[in-house]
Amino acid sequence: MRLEWAGRTFNPNDSSLAGPEAGPPRVVLQEEVGDGRNRVLQGDALDNAAALLEEGYGGKVRVAYIDPPYLSATDYAYEARLDGTKDGRVRRTHAFGDQWGEDGGAPRYLDMLAPRLHALSRLLSDRGTLWVHLDWRASYLARVLLDEIFGRDAFLNEIVWRRAPNLGRQAQSSQFGRTIDTILVYGKKDATLVPPTRLEPIEKEAIRRDEDGRPFTAAPRGDYTDQSIERLDAEGRVHRSKQGKVYIKYFLVKNERDEWCRERRVDSLWTDVAPIRHARLEERTGYPTQKPLALLERIISCASDPGDLVVDLFGGSGTTAEAAHRLGRKYIVGDAQSLAIATIRARLMRAGSHFVRQSTIAGSVVEAPLEATVERHGDETFEVRISSPVEPLAWWIEIEEGADGPLFSATPRWKTIWHSERGLGGKPAPIRDVARFSSRGPRLRVSAHDDEGKLYRMNWEIKR
Ligand SMILES: C[S@@+](CC[C@H](N)C(=O)[O-])C[C@H]1O[C@@H](n2cnc3c(N)ncnc32)[C@H](O)[C@@H]1O
Repeated sequence: MRLEWAGRTFNPNDSSLAGPEAGPPRVVLQEEVGDGRNRVLQGDALDNAAALLEEGYGGKVRVAYIDPPYLSATDYAYEARLDGTKDGRVRRTHAFGDQWGEDGGAPRYLDMLAPRLHALSRLLSDRGTLWVHLDWRASYLARVLLDEIFGRDAFLNEIVWRRAPNLGRQAQSSQFGRTIDTILVYGKKDATLVPPTRLEPIEKEAIRRDEDGRPFTAAPRGDYTDQSIERLDAEGRVHRSKQGKVYIKYFLVKNERDEWCRERRVDSLWTDVAPIRHARLEERTGYPTQKPLALLERIISCASDPGDLVVDLFGGSGTTAEAAHRLGRKYIVGDAQSLAIATIRARLMRAGSHFVRQSTIAGSVVEAPLEATVERHGDETFEVRISSPVEPLAWWIEIEEGADGPLFSATPRWKTIWHSERGLGGKPAPIRDVARFSSRGPRLRVSAHDDEGKLYRMNWEIKR
């Protein structure tokens, strides 16, 4: 089946990636934090995917997750809580727009989405899966596109995630509350998922004990065959009522609240991942539409192994990257907007992750001069005091490592040796305004992001 829309030019048989926006992408290195095993890429998802394909990443990605715009006809704002508390100062800035023009804009939206889904499908390995997170506004459109790109048999799941409780306006409206998101999962030919189990508390009345005193709960045999029942019987997992009716025994385990629980395999209805507003304050970046870490941790862990490569080219606040880092996976995360990149960078710094930051956007992304004073104590010790931008989202110091062997471009390699980013949580420490460090390099570079993600920079030559 093929989805038609006004002006459709998308052709999944054309692998040239020559969409209207796609120029030849050049990857420019901007910063190196620790080893270069992970990447943060500023640029359009199509350019970033094209650059990755060009570098030979085709067939190398185990999990691609995207949470793209979803036809919501909304502009989203980023909220920076400068003082950390509810009543403290809040700075609001534009983060990204999800507006696609006349009549809901579906044709323009599909022109955007289709080639990007296609490029992502080409990055996947034979065991790879693509997870596309949307809601009622666009999931039905993406489903048809994905069938066309991957083939209908590649469909693995439609996950329904309850992202909000049915409260307030939703609960009062004249239809059922729209409280769910849809995550479409498509897999390459050898893709398999390993759904986790969760602990479901069992009511006291339903708890029985076997002859050894082990607690269990029993459920009807359902569609178990006689052969399976024989096997379960041999394992001591069959319970027969006085009338001889067969039940399956499920042995119980305790959860952290000391309740007896049955271990159940998670199905495609996810009601046990709390919305971001219930997450710890330290997790909430202020970036709009941020998804909970627990959601991405579930996705990544059921679809990949440690060491595998995870990609998200509509990265937002960087949830996918942080989840991949926590789970020992490598990541490549991208976003078109400076603010998203600034948020991702600060977040990964807080998480202690290493990465290189690069851009496929033509031209310089340095937008303004930074103001700071540099004091030198002795030959190698420096003190830098930043004065503008005031209270940045993050700032950092890099030293030049010499021009030998740039990895992806002719830009010299800069190593970050000091950084400070705004803390999150109820009482975050204010961002430091003085940096003390030592350096033997010939040059220093001081950079900062403000709350619009704008990049400020100052270069400093060290006279020896
Ligand atoms: C819904 S948000 C993603 C939120 C993210 N999952 C998180 O947990 O924070 C969508 C992101 O896609 C980015 N975006 C929109 N169009 C893009 C494009 N063509 N290429 C790359 N990024 C894009 C936006 O800047 C925005 O940050």
